[in-house]
Amino acid sequence: MRTDTGHVFRLEDYRPSDYLIRKTELDFQLDPEKTIVTARLTIERRDGVSLATPLILNGDELELVSLHINGQPVSDYTAMPELLTIRSLPQQSSFTLEIVTRINPTTNRQLMGLYRSSNVYTTQCEAEGFRRITYFPDRPDVLSVYTVRLEADKQAAPILLSNGNLEANGDLANGRHFALWHDPHPKPSYLFALVAGDLGSISDQFTTLNGRQVALNIYVEHGNEDRATYAMDALKRSMRWDEEVYGREYDLDIFNIVAVSDFNMGAMENKGLNIFNDKYVLADPQTATDTDYAGIEAVIAHEYFHNWTGNRITCRDWFQLCLKEGLTVYRDHEFSSDMRSRAVHRIDEVKILKAQQFPEDGGPLAHPVRPKEYREINNFYTATVYEKGSELIRMLRTIIGDASFYKGLDLYFSRHDGEAATIEDFIKCFEDVTGRSLAHFALWYDQAGTPLVTVSSDYDAASRSLRLTLGQKTDPTPGQSHKQPMHIPVKFGLIGADGKDIAVSSHEGAGLEGDVLHLREASQSWTFHNIAEKPVLSLLRGFSAPVHLSQQLSREEQLFLARHDSDAFGRWQVIHQLMSNAIIANVEKLRLQEPVAFDPALAELLAELVQDETLDHAFRALCLSLPEEADIARELGSNIDPDLIRSSREALLSVIAAQNAALFAKTYASLQDNAAFTPDAEGAGKRALKAVLLSYLAASDNGPARVYAQFNDADNMTDKIAALTLLVHRFYGHDNATQALAQFEKDYGNVPLAMDKWFGVQARRPAPDALETVQQLMQHPLFSLDNPNRTRALLGAFAAGNPTGFNRPDGKTYAFFTNLILTIDRENPQLASRLLTSLRSWKTLEPARREHLKTALETIAQAENLSADVRDITERMLA
Ligand code: PHE
Ligand code: ZN
Repeated sequence: MRTDTGHVFRLEDYRPSDYLIRKTELDFQLDPEKTIVTARLTIERRDGVSLATPLILNGDELELVSLHINGQPVSDYTAMPELLTIRSLPQQSSFTLEIVTRINPTTNRQLMGLYRSSNVYTTQCEAEGFRRITYFPDRPDVLSVYTVRLEADKQAAPILLSNGNLEANGDLANGRHFALWHDPHPKPSYLFALVAGDLGSISDQFTTLNGRQVALNIYVEHGNEDRATYAMDALKRSMRWDEEVYGREYDLDIFNIVAVSDFNMGAMENKGLNIFNDKYVLADPQTATDTDYAGIEAVIAHEYFHNWTGNRITCRDWFQLCLKEGLTVYRDHEFSSDMRSRAVHRIDEVKILKAQQFPEDGGPLAHPVRPKEYREINNFYTATVYEKGSELIRMLRTIIGDASFYKGLDLYFSRHDGEAATIEDFIKCFEDVTGRSLAHFALWYDQAGTPLVTVSSDYDAASRSLRLTLGQKTDPTPGQSHKQPMHIPVKFGLIGADGKDIAVSSHEGAGLEGDVLHLREASQSWTFHNIAEKPVLSLLRGFSAPVHLSQQLSREEQLFLARHDSDAFGRWQVIHQLMSNAIIANVEKLRLQEPVAFDPALAELLAELVQDETLDHAFRALCLSLPEEADIARELGSNIDPDLIRSSREALLSVIAAQNAALFAKTYASLQDNAAFTPDAEGAGKRALKAVLLSYLAASDNGPARVYAQFNDADNMTDKIAALTLLVHRFYGHDNATQALAQFEKDYGNVPLAMDKWFGVQARRPAPDALETVQQLMQHPLFSLDNPNRTRALLGAFAAGNPTGFNRPDGKTYAFFTNLILTIDRENPQLASRLLTSLRSWKTLEPARREHLKTALETIAQAENLSADVRDITERMLA
């Protein structure tokens, strides 16, 4: 049943709810097909609301069993699967409503509400899943104190968990048992959770700042207990870090994490009972890569940090989603930066931002960090809300300074604790502690699009002065044709011929504070005096604002910055730009069927960098890695032919590999060590450098021997999968590649997270017949569209990670893919719509492919019975 009414929800229509739910008592009689939910709600009519105002509760596919008010059966009501309206309510402002509903966890394949995953009952309520459990004012500003009683068959479900603290448990007749959980902290319905099933666990404990003893448990499928220890360690480090850096303490006696194998997203911050996609819990060196470990550390921290930024202070409405998500992403980025190398982490953050958020902001799905309207909220858990939302917090900190930033947050935590807040509330805290207006900065929340910052500079030797002009412009985005200038903090440095930063002693022009230029107008100039020689400009250090920077640097200046910028991010950025320019120049040559040509200076620079022992391995690896094909496509922006991009990138790779073959081989060999695997930044950096060197060597070697050796010798998944990827992508058809795929399948056939990688590597193989490979893999016994991780591993990787294979010129893939979206949509609309967004940049393709894609998208648009999720995305993409 579809409930897409086409209704558009608007921020400006917000009204507080007429009825409040002070207490929520839930009783679950758990059964795989017929679960009975009894909700006893203590309801209060808000002051000033008239008696005649009906009580309207949300539902979704619900079946009502009975309804009582103050113990009496109710007659004056209308119950529909998606709405319960009760008229004729008691005179008193407070009354109790008892609702009994019946739900089927087994047939719930949307993975929203109460569902079963590997025989475990689990819930997912954000954003609007609670209404699939019982009728309720399912909106984040209705905060309630929950008491939850769970009853289930003891053998099938020995573990019974919900939010808060355990109050009682015990055995019942007929082999059943119960548990009673109470969460003293008022919370919105989206933070409710329960888990029931037969699970293994590991336990630990944590003593908080003020001496509270917290029991920590991580629940996993039996047999996976040992693979949860890294997650437990990350949890304890997160708890300590939030105390030390933000003064935030945990507030219950118990903190539970459950890993489930069927989950639409990464994880969920339910109060005291975080539920995770097992991908972000389970790891050991044989099955998880360094990236997986870093992901676990980040997501564990992210969900834990939500306890304050999201749970104690939640969002007034879903338009304010970035209030909790942007801030929490910022906090987890900071945590990871403290745990690892800050500079390297920053580069990784920016790579993700540019790869995921920039295309969103520059295409048909662009929306403000705080959207003003939505049709389906599930479609707004986006890179813009999360990643750009985090960048806004970072800019805010840059603008007001560290001390005011922490002071403002302290005020936010004390002023709004226990409330459902807005972006205005948040900003006001920083205005109050600094005494300055942040109105201009706040425009970032409402104006979509990535500003383009342009640069011009002029050095005058006679007056020893440098004049710098920065301009800004933001292109129109859907629904916002006219853009205003933003407040853009541009961190900068002037570098002298000796490679050192020049201190700025005297200048003209408003908005220079420390090393930050505050660009607030469409164009602004500054003049720096007493500059003895023409400096090289390093702009946007640390990527101080989420903007496109267009700066005309000469080749000499670029090479100079690549060697001397004291800002590591700046160095990486300019190296990346050099590579990108080289690839783009040759795309044009290839288009005209001219021979490609490369400046040998780039390969020389890389040779220098790889040998520079003062740089950490991870940074060197980042500098050596060529931009991805998708990065080049984004830079080009229109008329994209993925095959030309790939050829040009391949040509550059070969040139660099050939020019540095001996050096790379020597360095690669020097990085082989026999030390036991540790998942820390140090070891990960070495493996990353090894991997990038191997990718060059694979291009210059005559055959797969070296790569195959790494595949066989690897004692960890990072090295193994790097080798397997090269074997499959470069030496497909060679015995070694075939053997490696078979061996991997044999070794990891019963480790789903490892098999996801096996599917993914093949889905990304750049080849004209990638589609046929993917279709064959869909027939593999281990493939299932019911499991989101597996679906994303094969089909998500194909659509988002294989530009040439996916965009083959005949358009066959598009028809296949859109058909598949329709199939998935029948079961799991969220998964379908998310997969579909990988086509968000379709308008930038060259005309032939673009036409094919348009036809495919129109087929979706015309299909019957589309979910609200897929309809919303399709219509916006076609608009
Ligand atoms: N709130 C979750 C997070 O950011 C994400 C999520 C959204 C999970 C919706 C499930 C459903 O941590
Ligand atoms: Zn989050």
